[in-house]
Amino acid sequence: MKVLGISMGRKNERSDIYCKQALMGVEAAAKASGKDIEVEFLNTVTLDIGQCRGCGACSKAPDGKIKCWIKDDYLMVEEKILDADGIIIVAPVYSVGIVGQLKNITDRFGAAHDRASMIDEQEKRKADGRPLLDERYFKDRWVSYIAVGGAWTPDWTGMGLPMMHLFSCSQAMKVVGQINANDQGRKTSPFLDPPMMEDVFKMGENLANNLGVPYEETTWFGEEGTCPTCHLNLMTVDGTDTVTCAVCGSHGKVEMADGKMKIVFPTEEVKRARNTIVGLNEHHAEIGEMMRICIPIIMEKKDFLDEKKKEYAAYKPVWKTTEA
Ligand SMILES: Cc1cc2nc3c(=O)[nH]c(=O)nc-3n(C[C@H](O)[C@H](O)[C@H](O)COP(=O)(O)O)c2cc1C
Repeated sequence: MKVLGISMGRKNERSDIYCKQALMGVEAAAKASGKDIEVEFLNTVTLDIGQCRGCGACSKAPDGKIKCWIKDDYLMVEEKILDADGIIIVAPVYSVGIVGQLKNITDRFGAAHDRASMIDEQEKRKADGRPLLDERYFKDRWVSYIAVGGAWTPDWTGMGLPMMHLFSCSQAMKVVGQINANDQGRKTSPFLDPPMMEDVFKMGENLANNLGVPYEETTWFGEEGTCPTCHLNLMTVDGTDTVTCAVCGSHGKVEMADGKMKIVFPTEEVKRARNTIVGLNEHHAEIGEMMRICIPIIMEKKDFLDEKKKEYAAYKPVWKTTEA
């Protein structure tokens, strides 16, 4: 089995150190259990990884391989992800959320490799004899995250871990551990914070021990949190007693007991979390329904829409680009 550690921070600084420390935990657990695990480390900070341009070319895959047409370093990262069974991502928090590079990778990897749409597409290919999709698109994977932030208060890293979860969501990877490594400014260096280094090592061990384990039998490393799926506390509220986990999309009910608030997530809501096959199928059906509704409208209103597009295209951008 392969575990890929990806650091998105400065070379040989905090994210790199935590990532390597977690990989050392993976290696220690492999040695202790006799599991055959190969580890790989990748730093992406100087890689050229542009943003998804929504062209849809990746959904064609005529030879069974999903390929983004943008020829930059993402293509190498994608291959590394597909080859891996376990993934550890360590990324700095910038502007309260995750570094833009991870969002670019997520946008280019996630939707293109959506597990529900892959399963559907594979069935269609089996039926009509087209080349089958790469088997790696259907592999289970186990993931752990570390968000690295300078701020003393966790308030300034609030969107770090939640945004990291979006990476693993569309492929229904199983997140088995996470650490919000904030307060790096005061702590100065990971080497001066032995308890954190120990936690990171244990998170790596836990990931290694979970490789190949059925998702529902995995063990969790990190704080328990409010949501039983992502173990985070980021909820949206709408004035009723229902709250929604912003990461998983599961709905829970607010209950008060002894002056304390508790959110209860019914089993069916946990089962339909965004990063599960059930949740992904729900969204796949939603997209199918949108197409069913919007394609006849586009056809019916074609002349009007073409005219309006021409009118708006005449409103020129301040900077000319060479590509559409
Ligand atoms: C542009 C920029 C924005 C940042 N914004 C935040 C922030 O919102 N919250 C925070 O806790 N740290 C923030 N930081 C600090 C970094 O998260 C911190 O320095 C971290 O250690 C960087 O990771 P590295 O050492 O692996 O490169 C920011 C740093 C930069 C360069």
